[in-house]
Amino acid sequence: MDHFLYRNGQLHAEDVAVAEIVAAVGTPVYIYSAATLLRHYRLLDEALAGLPHLVCFAVKALSNVAVLRLLGDAGAGMDVVSGGEYARARAAGVAGEKVVFSGVAKTAEEMRLALTGGIRQFNVESEPELEALSAVAVALGREAPVALRVNPDVDAHTHAKISTGRRGDKFGIPIARAPAVAARAAALPGIRMVGVDVHIGSQLTSLAPFEAAYTRVAALVGELRAQGHAIDRVDLGGGLGIPYARANAVPPLPSDYGAMVRRSVGHLGCEIQIEPGRLIAGNAGILAARIVYVKAGEDRDFLILDTGMNDLVRPAMYDAHHDIVPVHQPPAGEPTKPFDVVGPVCETGDTFARGRELPLMVAGDLVAFRSTGAYGAVMGSEYNSRPLAPEVLVHGDQFAVIRARPGYDEMIARDRIPDWMHEDRTAAGGADC
Ligand code: LLP
Repeated sequence: MDHFLYRNGQLHAEDVAVAEIVAAVGTPVYIYSAATLLRHYRLLDEALAGLPHLVCFAVKALSNVAVLRLLGDAGAGMDVVSGGEYARARAAGVAGEKVVFSGVAKTAEEMRLALTGGIRQFNVESEPELEALSAVAVALGREAPVALRVNPDVDAHTHAKISTGRRGDKFGIPIARAPAVAARAAALPGIRMVGVDVHIGSQLTSLAPFEAAYTRVAALVGELRAQGHAIDRVDLGGGLGIPYARANAVPPLPSDYGAMVRRSVGHLGCEIQIEPGRLIAGNAGILAARIVYVKAGEDRDFLILDTGMNDLVRPAMYDAHHDIVPVHQPPAGEPTKPFDVVGPVCETGDTFARGRELPLMVAGDLVAFRSTGAYGAVMGSEYNSRPLAPEVLVHGDQFAVIRARPGYDEMIARDRIPDWMHEDRTAAGGADC
């Protein structure tokens, strides 16, 4: 359930009409619902009730500092994968002790940042990373809390580009090697083993792959304990899918996921961590855009929007489906016809949907892409020099711009002309390009 519903024929974000936000902020614009974000966080938190646990929001899904503050204030920890995400989590006011550092390529600089700023654990993905972390921790006179991220060789049956737990994927330590790596970790100065971590992929629509992976992790914890390691924590990663197309089958409920977690690792007596991103943020956001032109094609008409693959890359990158709805609700029984919905970017890949049944719309009408709260704005770029779409957070009948749309000057001001090119172009009446 989310809080983007029609009321009096107008799409609303909670109690605010999307058209009102657009009138104030323009299009394209990402709009998030605070109530939906919190609802999803709480559902997961409740799913693990009774077990010692921490829900760490995967910052990569939606990294705006206002959103992180909202979730952090509700009790969430954060899962970060870069120094930048670590800095965002801290800027949002989340204590270092609630921040987990994941990622395959943590640099010494990122390790230093987290070790000095405070960190709950590093999810270490390789032996060289372990050695590097030890060296950094020793140099700083600190101890790095470490969970070993293992690769359980489980197929998550999701899109190949977001599957991470198969043998041959770049992630994690092969599970069979984990005992040897744990022994090395125990011998290294500056390292304190605290747990085991696994993440097998994203947008999973069945519990079976999770259960297979978690069962392997449980067996590993037993083995590591038998070796004498104190394993107090298991981090089960993220990955629970969301319904993208309203018509489709519903992925597992958080409560079913919670029951499966209890079944597979509940007996270990470990603190449970999870790292959900999409489930919390996905259906908590929409991308609103305006139709610039309706163009008659050979066999089908194009809806040409003022938002493109630079704002929402998922359809181009993963052939992802996003429901597209008119902001002004068409009257019941209004005819529909198939449109190709495209953006302004100069690539055919900048196509959001082909043959999508939509009401007959005209230039100037507003549409909303649903389920774009996760991996939407964060994957945005300025390709074709289109400024990043702004972000708005709605809370009841209030809304606030939580990231403003940059002006062209602001965008261009980041570029620098090298000294050797300097010459006064003002006298010549401007650049002669
Ligand atoms: N933990 C780790 C270590 C991860 O790599 C990820 C996602 C998560 C947690 C959160 O997974 P979630 O709960 O959101 O499924 N850009 C892609 C998704 C990439 C996911 C990468 N890792 C997309 O738009 O579908």
